[in-house]
Amino acid sequence: MTALDTERLGRRAEAMLEELAAISEEPDRLTRRFLTPEHKRAAHLVGQWMAEAGMTPSEDALGTVRGHYAMAGESAGANAVPRLLVGSHIDTVINAGKYDGMLGVVAGILAIEHFRDQGRRFPFAVDVLAFGDEEGSRFPTVLSSSAALAGAFDPSWLDGTDRDGITLRQAMLDYGLDPGAVGTAAMSRDEAMAYVEIHIEQGPVLEHGNRPLGVVTSIAGQYRTRVTVRGMAGHAGTVPMPLRQDALLAASEMIVLAEHIAKAHPDAGMVATVGHIKVMPGAINVIPDLVEFVLDLRASSDAPRASALQSFTARAEAIAAARGCSVAFDTYHDCRTAACASWLQEGLARSTASLGLDAPRLVSGAGHDGQSMEKLTDFAMLFVRCKGGISHNPLESATVEDMGLAVAALIRFIETFNPRERG
Ligand code: GLV
Ligand code: MN
Ligand code: MN
Repeated sequence: MTALDTERLGRRAEAMLEELAAISEEPDRLTRRFLTPEHKRAAHLVGQWMAEAGMTPSEDALGTVRGHYAMAGESAGANAVPRLLVGSHIDTVINAGKYDGMLGVVAGILAIEHFRDQGRRFPFAVDVLAFGDEEGSRFPTVLSSSAALAGAFDPSWLDGTDRDGITLRQAMLDYGLDPGAVGTAAMSRDEAMAYVEIHIEQGPVLEHGNRPLGVVTSIAGQYRTRVTVRGMAGHAGTVPMPLRQDALLAASEMIVLAEHIAKAHPDAGMVATVGHIKVMPGAINVIPDLVEFVLDLRASSDAPRASALQSFTARAEAIAAARGCSVAFDTYHDCRTAACASWLQEGLARSTASLGLDAPRLVSGAGHDGQSMEKLTDFAMLFVRCKGGISHNPLESATVEDMGLAVAALIRFIETFNPRERG
């Protein structure tokens, strides 16, 4: 094993993240949603970096960039080569930080660049992946790029629309992709040996424990449920309060109800969030007749999450009825708790220990592509400390030093990766 210059690796990562962060839909903040022209520009840049690092880049049917680092003795164009998958995502939330997702992609590229510089190949290929739809910030889909790769893409997702009424199908066509070819993105189980992702923690645990890196044990399960409340529009000055059917008042009670339900399950780490709401007709002097919001509900185990959603819908119906409104629910995302494979957790723990680090184990409250990749293969994640635990916020940050250690840990992981440990 050669000594690793973690300071240099960290500085390279930071410079690449800066470059990616400059590609935004909005001039003064970072927003890069799935299948936008900015996603395409970022994908192009990542593909270029992959080629420079010694990989063969390609784009799959969902726009995922795949950098293939050939195995020892691999003949050009060989198919179904066993590969270790490494990666993360390049889409962002609205008003994002520059580390969420992008760090994992950049870390993969830097690790491969290191092996290319050493002229080193392995008895397996390594594919670095840059997914485009982890955040679900454009369409009513979440993790659709990794789902396609795992062969779990639901064709009905193609009909989902963004805020401008553009379907996923149309957005794919505009991006230059063929919606009829989604099936070609699926990898076979024989090809995928494991999926490993580096990601910022997005929470405060590592910082609190004064540790740069942590090994993830599982990812919390998640629902995204669209709630549509219908009432009756009316004049803000003439309809007496008891006679109103105000959809926004009903929705407001439901949102507070979600908070109460989540707070009643601290043992399951339950959290409920409503981060977007649409009020119609949206006029100051009109009683709202239609409200739509999405409830994001997560927990570290599936049974309390399911019963919480059941209790929410039953009680929300009662709230709507008491106000003369109706309510409908559409749970378009139901992702169960996903466990990281213990043999891969051990591999990551060994690689961090080889750098002299003691990496604690921790659960991820945030969603990640591993949740769909587990349908294809075993997966694991390495978390990197981030400042204040802040994420989904432009204040998100990780130090050059910690990022260098993360890339070094990934290098150690890949060079000691032994699929026979799978058992
Ligand atoms: C993605 O970051 C999510 O957890 O929503
Ligand atoms: Mn992410
Ligand atoms: Mn995110």
